[in-house]
Amino acid sequence: MPFKDYVNDLKPYVAQAPVERLQSELGIAKIHKLASNEGAFGPVPAARAALSEDLDLDELRRYPDSAAPELRAKIAALNGLAPENVVLGNGADELIRLAALSVLETGDNGVFPWPSFPTYVAACATTGAEARPVNLTDEWQIDFEALHAAVFPSTRIVFICNPNNPTGQLAPRETVREFIAALPPHVLCVLDEAYAEYASGDDEPEGPQLIREGVPNLLVLRTFSKIYGLAGLRIGYGFGSPEVVAAVDRMRSIFNVNALAQRAALASLDSQAEVWNRVEHVKQARTQLLKYLSLAGHKPLASRANFVFAEVGGRGSGADVERELLKLGVAVRELSGFGAPGAFRVTCGSDEENAFFGAAIDRLAG
Ligand SMILES: Cc1ncc(COP(=O)(O)O)c(C=O)c1O
Repeated sequence: MPFKDYVNDLKPYVAQAPVERLQSELGIAKIHKLASNEGAFGPVPAARAALSEDLDLDELRRYPDSAAPELRAKIAALNGLAPENVVLGNGADELIRLAALSVLETGDNGVFPWPSFPTYVAACATTGAEARPVNLTDEWQIDFEALHAAVFPSTRIVFICNPNNPTGQLAPRETVREFIAALPPHVLCVLDEAYAEYASGDDEPEGPQLIREGVPNLLVLRTFSKIYGLAGLRIGYGFGSPEVVAAVDRMRSIFNVNALAQRAALASLDSQAEVWNRVEHVKQARTQLLKYLSLAGHKPLASRANFVFAEVGGRGSGADVERELLKLGVAVRELSGFGAPGAFRVTCGSDEENAFFGAAIDRLAG
């Protein structure tokens, strides 16, 4: 076979099946999907208009604008940065992989807290490098000391997810700053802030501020998939110094962000009031989910993202809970692939979905 050994060894990513497929496979008329941390609401009204009445379908015969200057300029301006500080990706997921590709090769390694987002493992593995997970503390917090100790001369990249998926925990600003400042210059730090909007407050993630201050070797990631409800269109963005942005940008395919995604993203950015409403909704939903989970005997963590992590109370694994809840019409995520087989994660949905989950988890508790 012509494939590299490490390519033959890669494990395929098992994504959650779309809800329609789950429904037809299981013969259940309606499944409430609270499994993939998608936003509870779809595109904001301005993005809906950009994708429907304002769209000239004939334009789709053209390739998208590869450089997307208008969108990059708008994202930059909203964050007090220049367009040269902004790189666009086919989701933040692609940017994680491009960052890894731009620094890693066989013999190198990438370091990240664990449990965390499984793409960090895949991003290292697809370059032939070693993925080195560093356990969270017993309280499910990032162990920054251990993370620092895991950085070797062979380490080229460190991923930090903040708030962390799947735990929903937010790392203190000062600790993140000090950790990044202490990294040696041969290491790129990827600060994945895919859920930053949901963590709004005085201590919210400050990735863009670090870039404004000129912190080198740092790539901060954000996405339109969550708060803006555009996961199906695939668009995310990164902030970095012009050097970091240019390097990651050189690794992408020319038309990595399609024309519809660019249109919808541009229109979304004018909807800050709608974003705040969504953040407020998630804050209430988190409280509600936390209550349902505790009452059912599980051990949830207070979250700063749009999902809640819970250790399974009593016997059984996260997979058991996922399987049983599915029979009752709710899809949650068991977390063996994230490094937490004894836990599961519930995404904040609409009021109706959250109430349905509450009734189902209560029924399961018997
Ligand atoms: C921490 C984290 N980073 C990145 C992503 C990927 O986001 P996108 O849809 O923009 O690729 C996700 C998606 O779930 C995520 O949880």
